Amino acid sequence: MGNIFKKLGVGLVVGGVLVGVARSQELPFDFQLLFLIIALIGAVLFMLLDAPSIGVMSGRKSLAAVAVFWVLLITVCFVGASSLPQFDPEDERAKITKLLEREREKSEQGKTEKLLALAKSLDEQVKKLEDRLKGVGGEAIPAVAPIPPAGGRRAAVAGGEDDVMKVGEEQWQLQECYNCHKLRGEGGKKRGPELDNIGSLLTVEEIQQKIADPKSFMAEGYDKEYAKGIMPNKFKDLMDPKEMLALATWLGSFKNASVNTPKPIKKS
Ligand code: HEC
Repeated sequence: MGNIFKKLGVGLVVGGVLVGVARSQELPFDFQLLFLIIALIGAVLFMLLDAPSIGVMSGRKSLAAVAVFWVLLITVCFVGASSLPQFDPEDERAKITKLLEREREKSEQGKTEKLLALAKSLDEQVKKLEDRLKGVGGEAIPAVAPIPPAGGRRAAVAGGEDDVMKVGEEQWQLQECYNCHKLRGEGGKKRGPELDNIGSLLTVEEIQQKIADPKSFMAEGYDKEYAKGIMPNKFKDLMDPKEMLALATWLGSFKNASVNTPKPIKKS
């Protein structure tokens, strides 16, 4: 009995060390759990080595014993594996599709913008011609109808305030800001500050600046992380300006003074 406790103790110590290493490497919680389980399985194996041996069997009895052993083993593996956290490819696919969709939209928008610019320059040329004709003395050229502003599509996209908030929250999830920032008590506060009171400390525009250029502000007391550039400088490529504004607007609505969000210090 004492031996069992000793081995369990060793298993726990080894597991603890593994978890410690995993944490220091910032591996996700699931992996830490996995390491602990592996160490404990090892401990159980060593305990089994001490188990008294079974008497010799033959004939039907031995066949039944082998069958029971396999059923037990398969059940343990099956139950164990399915109770551990699963990687869900659907989740990842949805994220990728979303990113791709945005790229597509962006290039479409780019095309529209080019066409609009072309239309505008044509419009200007017509006006110039008109003026010249006027100077020459030709009159009575009917006024060219101004080109209507950029279609209904954009207006529909701009949407109401609710939509902005929705897009903002969606971006928070999509860009995985929660990996480093705790908000509403959720997410990792391991490497970045909690942001529940950011709306009291920065304007929406300043939040936008921080997201677009993480070097623009430094959270007080986070000198090391700031210097290392932990907050990635990639978001301005991953979000279009509208989405970034939505994210900043949404974050700007967090004004929970009971949370100690560090003071942002203006840098560049
Ligand atoms: C890889 C980790 C990481 C990710 C991902 C990350 N940040 Fe940060 N963020 C940090 C760190 C570390 C700081 C503190 C140091 C600094 O100011 O640069 C910080 C600071 C901030 C601050 C200033 C907080 C203050 O109190 O001054 C804001 C605002 C912010 N991040 C917003 C965001 C948003 C929005 C996203 C997602 C688009 C995001 N962060 C993604 C690590 C991250």
